[in-house]
Amino acid sequence: MIYASFRSIGAYMPSQIRDNDWFIQRMDTSDEWITKRTGIKQRRIASEDELCSDLAVKASTIAIQRAGIEKSEIDLIVCATISPDFYCMPSTACIIGDKLGLNGVMALDISAACTGFVYALSIAKAFIESGMKKNVLIIGAEKLSSIVDYTDRTTCMLFGDGAGAAIISATSNKEEAIIDVSCSADGAYGDFLMTPGVDSEKHFMQMKGNETFKVAVKTLTSDVQKIMAKNQFQNSDIDLFIPHQANYRIIKAVGDALGFEDSQKVLTVEKYGNTSSASIPMAINECYEDGRLKNGMTILLDAFGGGLTWGSALVKFSAK
Ligand code: UT7
Repeated sequence: MIYASFRSIGAYMPSQIRDNDWFIQRMDTSDEWITKRTGIKQRRIASEDELCSDLAVKASTIAIQRAGIEKSEIDLIVCATISPDFYCMPSTACIIGDKLGLNGVMALDISAACTGFVYALSIAKAFIESGMKKNVLIIGAEKLSSIVDYTDRTTCMLFGDGAGAAIISATSNKEEAIIDVSCSADGAYGDFLMTPGVDSEKHFMQMKGNETFKVAVKTLTSDVQKIMAKNQFQNSDIDLFIPHQANYRIIKAVGDALGFEDSQKVLTVEKYGNTSSASIPMAINECYEDGRLKNGMTILLDAFGGGLTWGSALVKFSAK
């Protein structure tokens, strides 16, 4: 039997920090409003000549090195993004493959907004378990600053740039296997979060914030309850609960409803804002780098985003 294992994590955040003052100087808002309503204090912003693929390549290089594999062993690249280098082609995954010197390797983008990394994980798991691929590079990378409307005070202070990447590899050891991944979507709510067109300014993100907030809290909670029940997991079986980082109040409401201890909940939204598909791998990377995440631990991922899409995953972290 072949299983898929989560071998390594890497992330890259652009160096430019944009704090709440930047917005206060440009629009009618306040540090108090942003902090109270979102929990966000800072975001990272890519430079003009830094593309989504550049962020992704930096995160991927770290993940590949930490996995202890040769680049040439990678046989699939999946990039989740809603802020690609080009609309609609070439895919950002193709550009990443070229920049990494992986010419000839199958590469594809997926569009599942903030759930993108969990979707990429399920694709990697399926390709590996079917025996078609052995080492899959999955990436969540976003240059959201390129699709944010900086005249819309209701959305612009929420988002930031960044990338996270992981290597998912085949193993015959069930103890190392990703336990379960579940992904869902409902296009009936497509207008909650959308980029209405490709013409000037229509490519900017628009969000029905309050409606999205309410569905997010409900869905993130029930999705975790389902995957935990299906796999007969208790909260005490989870070392770290790593939800999508959109808003502190969403994470708090979901974490409380699920009954997780503060020490289990991972929060990075204060430093990076919402980085869509990059938020979960960036948070996993932070836990790995600060020593909270160790080999053999079980992590619970929980994502929700435009589409609407949502997904959760029970993952054994099986670093080499
Ligand atoms: O990542 C994918 C999923 N994304 C999400 O889940 C995000 C979900 N939504 C949210 O995080 C929140 O809805 C927001 C942070 C976007 C907004 O918070 P809210 O508590 O839902 O506020 P609201 O939209 O109901 O607006 C409340 C008030 C309004 O004023 P009135 O109508 O009460 O007078 C807004 O005009 O806050 C006002 N407002 C602001 N005030 C100061 C909206 N944006 C701002 C601002 N500064 N930047």
